Amino acid sequence: MLRLCFVCLGNICRSPTAHGVFLRLAEERGLLDRLVTDSAGTSAFHVGERPDARSQMAARRRGFELPGVARQFTAEDFSRFDLILAMDRTNRAALLAMARTEEEARRVRLLRDFDPRSPRDADVPDPYYGGDAGFEEVLDICEAACLGLLDYLERERRI
Ligand code: 4NP
Repeated sequence: MLRLCFVCLGNICRSPTAHGVFLRLAEERGLLDRLVTDSAGTSAFHVGERPDARSQMAARRRGFELPGVARQFTAEDFSRFDLILAMDRTNRAALLAMARTEEEARRVRLLRDFDPRSPRDADVPDPYYGGDAGFEEVLDICEAACLGLLDYLERERRI
């Protein structure tokens, strides 16, 4: 089993979107039974909430369902996941500050670094305070990055 956790700030927009997109793409490749997946936020702002209605609507229009209820990432999650996918550099920094060992820190990666067409160190932009176009952009980015992530995991024989 490979265990992955997608992480953003609120755990209601970007990380549930990446999680839902990843699950469907993994299902299409017949890989679901080799994966444990989850998402979390570095903040507690929206703990207990389902994904933002705007994220859910935009995702549903493309045939994705967004799983989960918001929760906050904790240091114990480093024991539960092999790969921790940060949506942006700010959240990556928050995760790295929580890592207790070098080995834990190495599990933290930026999601977009798995998209071969993305510039290095690129963020999934936060759509929360913007308009509908931001939610479409998050989906475009997550689709490309999750495809790249699955390609990487298969190529490197991680799954
Ligand atoms: P997310 O988006 O990190 O993609 O879930 C946000 C959700 C809520 C807030 C910021 C970003 N907030 O400030 O409440």
